[in-house]
Amino acid sequence: MCGIIGAIHLKGNISSILRQSLKRLEYRGYDSSGIATVSDGVLYVKKDKGKIDDIHDRINFDTLPGSIGIGHTRWATHGPPSKANAHPHTDCQNRIAVVHNGIIENYQELREQLLSNGHHFRSQTDTEVIPHLIEDALNQTPRLDEAVAQVLPQLEGSYAIVVLRAKRKELVCARKESPLVIGLGSRGVYCASDVPAFLPMTRKTIILEDDELVHLTSEGALVSRINESGGLTQLPIREPITVKWTIDMAQKGGYPHFMLKEIHEQPRALGDTLRIRKVDLDAFTELLHNHKNILTIAAGTSYHATLAAKYMFSQIANQLIHGVIASEGSDTIARSLGADTAVLAVTQSGETIDTIHAVKHLKNQGATILAITNTVGSSITRLADSVLYTQAGPEIGVAATKTYATQLATLALLSISLGKMTGAQTKKECQELHDALNQFPRLIQSVIRNQENIIKDTAQEYITKSSFFFLGRGISTSTAMEGALKIKEIAYVHAEGYPAGESKHGPIALVEPGFPIVFVAPNDNTRRHLEGNVMEMKARGAQIISICSEKDQTLIKLSDHAIPLPALPSTSFSPISYAVPLQLLAYYAAILRGHNPDQPRNLAKAVTVL
Ligand code: M6R
Repeated sequence: MCGIIGAIHLKGNISSILRQSLKRLEYRGYDSSGIATVSDGVLYVKKDKGKIDDIHDRINFDTLPGSIGIGHTRWATHGPPSKANAHPHTDCQNRIAVVHNGIIENYQELREQLLSNGHHFRSQTDTEVIPHLIEDALNQTPRLDEAVAQVLPQLEGSYAIVVLRAKRKELVCARKESPLVIGLGSRGVYCASDVPAFLPMTRKTIILEDDELVHLTSEGALVSRINESGGLTQLPIREPITVKWTIDMAQKGGYPHFMLKEIHEQPRALGDTLRIRKVDLDAFTELLHNHKNILTIAAGTSYHATLAAKYMFSQIANQLIHGVIASEGSDTIARSLGADTAVLAVTQSGETIDTIHAVKHLKNQGATILAITNTVGSSITRLADSVLYTQAGPEIGVAATKTYATQLATLALLSISLGKMTGAQTKKECQELHDALNQFPRLIQSVIRNQENIIKDTAQEYITKSSFFFLGRGISTSTAMEGALKIKEIAYVHAEGYPAGESKHGPIALVEPGFPIVFVAPNDNTRRHLEGNVMEMKARGAQIISICSEKDQTLIKLSDHAIPLPALPSTSFSPISYAVPLQLLAYYAAILRGHNPDQPRNLAKAVTVL
């Protein structure tokens, strides 16, 4: 789970371009980074532990010479963050440098073989076997693309790699189960884990498939397919697509953090997502409708979106769906599921390996794969029979915020569309639900405008608390779980998201005077019972923070702190606006505790390890 970049410019120094590209990929990992360049046939490498800016202050990446190079920002898997384990990794003679995102599962045996053949290793990483294997392969062929193609079938696991060698002005990159895209610009060519890396230089991009290898030179990019025996078949020239993202969309736009910018962008992101083409939505819904079982697969925040969808589908389309956490997918899904099952995979990155693995497992059993993702060309889109794209734009903060809102909106649209198809809703009722949904961008705008300062003060009030409950009933259970995940993830505060009704079956034992409990309490059919749960907790001295309707004077009076929200046009979609105060609460809790919410420790944006 790292960020990689490779670039060749016709002329001029490439090192500062690579450094800035790595900065835009830092959301993928940030425990160490490095850059390698070539000038006059000599390979230069600078790398170290830490964040890119700090390393740059110490060793100045920009002095690396040459107009060709590669770079890497790391999220450690094999070997702790250290200078030696930072990429690029090189061969024995310092002629080949490699950056890698993924995991080489059989690296131990490869390493032992290489050691017995006299190779010297400098790191504990799985990646380092690659430059050494290429070093050997170059004894068989002078061509770098052929040498890399010979090596790749020996690697078990996942990879996106870029290879640089001292001899010529060329790069070779390849992918298997890890993302890699090509950029074609007027000043040069690029390859990277993600488009924002080269966005200031070009928007023209080629998306690569698994087992494809690209030979990059100043003339352009030649794509080939690698076969099992390490041969290469050159593929026809592929037309680049032009991505619509602007560099401004991928940068902070004046906010102190990406997370805050992305929270504030939700009305726009939601509005764009709600404009999904009816024909695409209908075709997707038809596929769902044609199957006996509907299973959702997702991780983290995306899983919480699917939990909310369970309620929406049941209330609006009379359709039961089974929600599965992606990492549990392959083990919990019975073999009995097959061709009569539609799998709805929800993943903003489209690269979460838990989700990809579970989906592959089900695909092999004959299930139809439907995907909701934010990332064009991501791995999930290649596995899916049909894809719906959320229109959040790039989300750089590690915490999912605007992608969550857009996933909820897409799932809400689907539930209405399915409700229409199943006959659970009349045409008029569907129209009313659509009208309600279309009010949510305005609603979120108003939550942010009117509540941000109140939430900031609330975060300050509870600064000394080290543990929270987040409770809700019905669809709000998913919102409560999302609120708990957010505050754990970025503020490092322990929190449990739980169904309020279930809390009396155990967790209530933890409650003592002053224990903070956030109740997610929209004015829906669970509200009356929720009040009982509030009273139970109050009786034990808990401090109550309510996220509730501004009209709910009873709950406002019962609470120590209330965050009153505008009335909902439909309670079926409450998580869309009720999650926003929880995102802001987590954001300010992190800031007040001195943490960087964009780059929480131990985490990365796309989790590509099992
Ligand atoms: O890219 P995905 O939606 O598949 O990611 C799933 C989770 O890793 C992700 O939602 C994670 O939980 C977020 N950091 C939460 O804010």
